[in-house]
Amino acid sequence: MSVIAQKCPEIHVTVVDINDKRIAAWNDTDLDKLPIYEPGLPEVVKEARGRNLTFSTAVDDAIDKADMIFISVNTPTKTYGVGKGMAADLKYIELCARQIARVAKDDKIVVEKSTLPVKTAQALKNILDNTGNDVDFQIISNPEFLAEGTAIDDLLNPDRVLIGGDIHTNKGNEAVQKLVDIYAHWVDRKRLLTTNIWSSELSKLTANAFLAQRVSSINAMSEICEKTGADVDEVARAVGMDTRIGSKFLKSSVGFGGSCFQKDILNLVYISKTLGLPEVADYWEQVILMNDHQKRRFAMKMVSTLYNTVSDKKIAVLGWAFKKDTNDTRESAAIYVTDHLLNEQAKVVVYDPKVPEERIYADLDALGTRPERENRERVTVVQDPYEACENAHAISILTEWDEFKDYNWEKIHKEMYKPAFLFDGRRLLDADKIEKTGFDYYAIGK
Ligand SMILES: NC(=O)c1ccc[n+]([C@@H]2O[C@H](COP(=O)([O-])OP(=O)(O)OC[C@H]3O[C@@H](n4cnc5c(N)ncnc54)[C@H](O)[C@@H]3O)[C@@H](O)[C@H]2O)c1
Repeated sequence: MSVIAQKCPEIHVTVVDINDKRIAAWNDTDLDKLPIYEPGLPEVVKEARGRNLTFSTAVDDAIDKADMIFISVNTPTKTYGVGKGMAADLKYIELCARQIARVAKDDKIVVEKSTLPVKTAQALKNILDNTGNDVDFQIISNPEFLAEGTAIDDLLNPDRVLIGGDIHTNKGNEAVQKLVDIYAHWVDRKRLLTTNIWSSELSKLTANAFLAQRVSSINAMSEICEKTGADVDEVARAVGMDTRIGSKFLKSSVGFGGSCFQKDILNLVYISKTLGLPEVADYWEQVILMNDHQKRRFAMKMVSTLYNTVSDKKIAVLGWAFKKDTNDTRESAAIYVTDHLLNEQAKVVVYDPKVPEERIYADLDALGTRPERENRERVTVVQDPYEACENAHAISILTEWDEFKDYNWEKIHKEMYKPAFLFDGRRLLDADKIEKTGFDYYAIGK
């Protein structure tokens, strides 16, 4: 929304959220306090905020005044009832729809920006038409393809923008064109794809499933590499140079995280099951199972290397965010690796340049594996990476933050317990350079 406001100064964008703390942070004069850490975002907000970009908690008022409403609320995996652990929880979407229906006194275009299961637009339309004030609602699907960490660049230079709508009716077509005209302010019209609404909803889940599948495929090969002496980076380069395959999303690691891949694939698995397609469901579910396996395998490799016990050993975890250049930790591999290590009674010291201490404890507490008190006893969060590593038996790199590459690894090695182990879950460090430092170095797929 900030980028739309920046690129379309004649359009007023109001971002509303029921979370008043988040809105207050979006309004903070100190741009370092924005709730999302994203390179380039403060500059965009600085330019548009107060001009044609407003952040507010007055949801009804914003609905009333808007011509077009983007629903961008969270759609997490259900944690209860039918479809628990798999289906998307659409309660926040439904609440939004009911609120829009109640408040709207004139025609509105409602844009699905959240990632939704295919056919959600039908449910939205039913709620809006049956509980509304006899105004016309046009539903459009406009899934978001940005990746965290590169969000601003992805939004400014998208590969494509997908806009799905009721393109066989005049009103539907008009609504689609209105959104096309917004993006056309800065995106080449050739990259604006209009489709029917179901194709648009399903394409977003498909794109994420394909991307996650590539990560799980290369991670599956990483285990074969470890058994055979092949090197997974070399394998990835060799297959990635095949133009039919391409080089992206072939970086082997301790596993993908983030709020989207797992949730969206589980959602696809659930849709397949409800459509009576068990083979399709199993096919996609394996992508998730492989990812869980990789995280567990990495933690178990640490334990077995440290003579089958990490009990009361100090383990440094470098990086908590699910990838570099974001402060988002949802489904981060670091959470699960740490949880496995805590089950083995390790003492874990965490350093991440952007993730605050309370987030790290909240992530561990949310797993419910042990009493919260124990998480605080066993896990320490520090602001200095060298402090995290001092006297540690082992270090694991779980986020590929660039700063980790530049550390004085020789100095760190000198100040650790010997033998000192370095587990590189992101294949971030140059193995040749590390060898000279004296570490027993372990990277995925080596
Ligand atoms: N995070 C990403 O990189 C990304 C990328 C593409 C698509 N998506 C999709 O976008 C959607 C949102 O993702 P997110 O990461 O921003 O989630 P999020 O949980 O960070 O943000 C959702 C926000 O919606 C607010 N909210 C919930 N109900 C509301 C209501 N009734 N009225 C007003 N505000 C309400 C919440 O308070 C919260 O601040 C999801 O469907 C996700 O799949 C996310």
